[in-house]
Amino acid sequence: MADVAKCEIELVVNGESRSVAAYPMERLLDVLREDIGLTGTKEGCGEGECGACSVFMNGRLVNSCLVPALQAAEAEVTTIEGMVAEGAGLDGVQRAFLEYGGAQCGICTPGMVLAAHNLLRTNQEPTREDMKEALAGNLCRCTGYMKIFESVVQACRNMEVAS
Ligand code: FES
Ligand code: FES
Repeated sequence: MADVAKCEIELVVNGESRSVAAYPMERLLDVLREDIGLTGTKEGCGEGECGACSVFMNGRLVNSCLVPALQAAEAEVTTIEGMVAEGAGLDGVQRAFLEYGGAQCGICTPGMVLAAHNLLRTNQEPTREDMKEALAGNLCRCTGYMKIFESVVQACRNMEVAS
């Protein structure tokens, strides 16, 4: 990228306006981790296969390793750091992952938590099949998925308590 100029990109991350100098084809993942310092978003495959880098962009779950920085200009991005409960504690989904062992090495966890939120936004009583489908783009090499499914079930209960 030596002869390509950086450009100034404005975006909103976790409700805060940010301006970063980035190469147009720099990955949103790197903008978040390297330029802004939000390292909660993880890199797994770097090829759009594992979901470790998932973030919400304009309300849609995306793999940030596949999003060029220029495409994120003027976008609203939410990372795992922005998924906090009122009062800045862990939200119901994060607590469930903690309590039910859905997070082990943690590489997939931010992406899994965002994917679980994405599911629970529209379906508060997901079946096992719903969960499998919703989390199909997020790979985990540690848990065997059972603990993740149990965590999502508990997340539903936590959300009932919160509402
Ligand atoms: Fe982006 Fe794997 S790091 S999908
Ligand atoms: Fe290690 Fe999922 S907890 S990859």
